[in-house]
Amino acid sequence: MTTRALNDFLTMTGPGTPMGELFRRYWIPALAAGELPDPDCPPVRVKLLSERLIAFRDTTGRVGVMDEFCAHRGVSLWFGRNEENGLRCAYHGWKYDVTGQCVEVPSEPEESGFCKKMELGDVIWIYMGPAEHTPPLPGFEWARVPHAHRFVSRRTQECNYLQAMEGGIDSAHVSFLHRHELRHDPLHTSKGAELTRETDARFEVVETAGGMIIGVRRPAGPGELYWRITQWVMPFHTMIPPYGDNALNGHAWVPIDDENCYTWCFTHHPTRPLSGHELETMRNGGGIHVKLIPGTFRPVVNKDNDYMIDRAAQRDNKSYCGVKGIAMQDASIQESMGPIQDRAKENLVSTDNGVIMARVRLRKAALAAQEGRTPDGIDPATHAVRSASIVLPENVSFYEAAADALVAKEGVEHVSI
Ligand code: FES
Ligand SMILES: [Fe+2]
Repeated sequence: MTTRALNDFLTMTGPGTPMGELFRRYWIPALAAGELPDPDCPPVRVKLLSERLIAFRDTTGRVGVMDEFCAHRGVSLWFGRNEENGLRCAYHGWKYDVTGQCVEVPSEPEESGFCKKMELGDVIWIYMGPAEHTPPLPGFEWARVPHAHRFVSRRTQECNYLQAMEGGIDSAHVSFLHRHELRHDPLHTSKGAELTRETDARFEVVETAGGMIIGVRRPAGPGELYWRITQWVMPFHTMIPPYGDNALNGHAWVPIDDENCYTWCFTHHPTRPLSGHELETMRNGGGIHVKLIPGTFRPVVNKDNDYMIDRAAQRDNKSYCGVKGIAMQDASIQESMGPIQDRAKENLVSTDNGVIMARVRLRKAALAAQEGRTPDGIDPATHAVRSASIVLPENVSFYEAAADALVAKEGVEHVSI
């Protein structure tokens, strides 16, 4: 059972909390590279792990990410002037370079809360932990394929990261919540999608060096099982099992603060550029992506408009929950648990084994970090994995039979039906 104390331990990620200190040991996707398109473009605010930060690109194209507030008297540097290789506070003109150092009026020690940052896979990542523990660059396949193979979006989700991420681990809900999209969503149809509508799903969880693999089997045909295999990589990455030749999808569930998170949505194809049709569909909020209110990361469909629930569609079996689109179905259901789900009240069953194991691993990793040990999921080799969907004979170990399919290999097609 998850006690209130354990719930707090797992869900709170502000400075000084055990989980917050753990998350600060990893590279964190912070903003899309395209949000800072040009040298000296306007600075961008981003809040992560309950810390408010400002990101800017200087005159020579270097990115800086640092504490949003001026060291002088706390004005937001979002009002700042981005000029001549630095961001200048609009109040009294103190100026900061991309390392966070105050370089003009007066001189400051180099500690003003700056973050390490780098660009990879069209995303600006930051590292907020101790400099001596800076991890190697991430090895996720979506971030390593050519630009044309990838589509990335992010949206805010109005709940704690953990219940959102647990939705990414829990493959049992797909046969219910998304069952109608498995026939109608253009990026989610295949023979496997049809088999996923079977609700008799059995879970097997295998721990790995960087997280875990969740195998879910459903009846396929005489003597055969359809396996959907999800990857969870510490601390907040999930990879959705694919359908046919559709591209692979994954998420990163990144805390903004304890009651909000960024849901990063990554779509990539290992061996081909995404087609015009795929890109167009995703730009219009299809697949795992959503339409946003212009100028924000908040979905157009949100809790203030009751997620535009369509009761007629729900009644007529066009949508299981009445909310349109896979991503907002997930988000609405997860937000409905409240800003932080009270796990002391839940009743877990065997299909929740993946969720249970993730909580155990996160707790262990936070304690390991506290004790000075390196937490799991830092090694980029543990990121170079894939989800898969595959039909296997009964009585075969899915983990052994699918071992090759679960590794990301450059230029090699993914395994999917
Ligand atoms: S508050 Fe920023 S320079 Fe005074
Ligand atoms: Fe879902």
